[in-house]
Amino acid sequence: MAHVSDLIAEDIDQYLTLHEHKSLLRFITCGSVDDGKSTLIGRMLYESKMLFEDQLSQLETDSKKMGTQGGDLDFALLVDGLSAEREQGITIDVAYRFFSTDKRKFIVADTPGHEQYTRNMVTGASTADVAIVLVDARKGILTQTRRHSYLASLVGIRHIALVINKLDMVGYAKEVVDRIDAEYRSFAKALGLQNIVTIPMSALKGDNIAERSANTPWYQGPTLMSYLETVEIDDAGSQWRPFRLPVQWVNRPNLDFRGYAGIVAGGIVRPGDRLRVLPSGRESRVARIVSSEGDLAQAVNGQSITITLEDELDISRGDVLASPNALPGVADQFEAAVIWMNDEPMLPGRPYLLKIGTKTVTATSAPPKYKINVNTLEHLAARKLDLNDIGVCNLSFDQHVAFDPYSENRDTGSFIMIDRLTNNTVGAGILHFALRRSQNIHWQAIDVNKQAHASLKGQKPCVLWFTGLSGAGKSTVANMVEKKLHALGKHTYLLDGDNVRHGLNKDLGFSDADRVENIRRVGEVARLMVDAGQIVLVSFISPFRAERRMARELVEQDEFVEIFVDTPISVAEQRDPKGLYKKARRGELKNFTGIDSPYEAPECAEIRIDTTAHSPDQAAELVIQHLTERGVI
Ligand code: ADX
Repeated sequence: MAHVSDLIAEDIDQYLTLHEHKSLLRFITCGSVDDGKSTLIGRMLYESKMLFEDQLSQLETDSKKMGTQGGDLDFALLVDGLSAEREQGITIDVAYRFFSTDKRKFIVADTPGHEQYTRNMVTGASTADVAIVLVDARKGILTQTRRHSYLASLVGIRHIALVINKLDMVGYAKEVVDRIDAEYRSFAKALGLQNIVTIPMSALKGDNIAERSANTPWYQGPTLMSYLETVEIDDAGSQWRPFRLPVQWVNRPNLDFRGYAGIVAGGIVRPGDRLRVLPSGRESRVARIVSSEGDLAQAVNGQSITITLEDELDISRGDVLASPNALPGVADQFEAAVIWMNDEPMLPGRPYLLKIGTKTVTATSAPPKYKINVNTLEHLAARKLDLNDIGVCNLSFDQHVAFDPYSENRDTGSFIMIDRLTNNTVGAGILHFALRRSQNIHWQAIDVNKQAHASLKGQKPCVLWFTGLSGAGKSTVANMVEKKLHALGKHTYLLDGDNVRHGLNKDLGFSDADRVENIRRVGEVARLMVDAGQIVLVSFISPFRAERRMARELVEQDEFVEIFVDTPISVAEQRDPKGLYKKARRGELKNFTGIDSPYEAPECAEIRIDTTAHSPDQAAELVIQHLTERGVI
């Protein structure tokens, strides 16, 4: 799930070469704000002698100056300082810190920031072997602890170090540790987390980090460092997984060379191996494996390579090269667990960009099957996912993708979701399985197609999409346009919000989620009517840009005409043809557009009608004129 920026990837490469002979452990730290995470990481860097002289003396000066920790070194200052440095000029979700001891090298995904904590944590967790779950001894297990443990189990982390920190504040009391340990274990058991080691600690004083503390004579377990050095991980297993190469880009410097570049996401590959390209299904053999160090005899999981094939195949970014003996699935509908990370909720039916491996598709979710109460692990009914919600949903993509269930491959089984308008990462998730119906529903080829329908009617089908506030005059203008088109002998149909809400959409109200579904359905109906050769007029408030864009994308580019019926709310309210504004102002009508529900005005509508300057008849004439210029009529 983590898409480490190139810069960071380069750092990691350099670091790995330096300590090539040692095994690597990746871990994350999680817990709540103020649980002592920075202090712990700073202390580990210090204990492993990864700090440079100048950083140390700076730390001593800073600690004295701040005077926050009595005479002790304030390691949090150190880590916060490093991350500030790191983040200058580069935006990264997760800061990766490297250190090593005699036995092992480590990469810790440090997840800075408070509000975006869940997102950062998920990004870091998807590659981690171990999660350090930090708990403040005074506070015990919090909702945040449970949420992060849930996420850790969701992304497949098998080893948990439950670090009970700040023990100096509770007099190193064994009872405190026992109580928290018991509570955590009963929760973790329900999650299926088995390998839990509990370590009592004061990160500030250094108890049980590198050396066993005299303050906890009752504790017989390992120090955190020795735990991390010895915990057994099964990373070697990734090479026995079937071979996968999600193609990042096609390298074609000249006509003689065509290479497919990417990072191996499981398995091993050698020249001569047969590979299948998915989703297309074509096969060829590996001719060469090219890397920055010349041609390779083999490549394994995690390596950056370029593969050339014996045959010229049509392969593009986002395709997956896979071993034909154990193929990934190919589908466009899935059940998935989604972790929502955005202030704006995830609304069923709204399209989002979804990035899986190197492929980006457009995805929409059905209403969630349920969301999880992270404290009790109960399944709750949900109509949308809010910030920090974890839910299980059916997703449908606009294209087929090659995938593996997350339990089999973390890289080809996980995804992130991106808002199409802001480009922000808004969710992350893992694929459970493909829905069987996606394999069983095919497109039926129909001989009497759109062209045939249209030519019989002697017209070019299209959608005229009227959007604007309630009372803006959409239906009045649309009605007039339809009359004019009818008089010209055109085959038309007017879909009006009020009317459609009496039938097809009578189960829908005016919440954001219902409006999204309202527009999704009418968009689909409009598409079918265009297919039938009609000129379709749609008159709906359609307040959200995302759904208007979705409706636009359902038809061909030149088949969609967006008409913004632009009436200031003060004017619409004055007209108030149905008396609804008055009701809304009296508080008798909730979620009324323009009052307590948003209207996102179009940014690039084909036609904008200012109803304060034009009569309905003039407005309709403007539309007809536009259609004539476009060659529609
Ligand atoms: S949309 O927002 O989902 O596109 P739609 O166009 O279908 O709305 O329906 C809007 C019509 O429903 C309005 O013209 C008005 O008559 C009626 N209506 C009832 N309640 C509301 C409300 N809360 N907000 C807006 N319109 C409402």
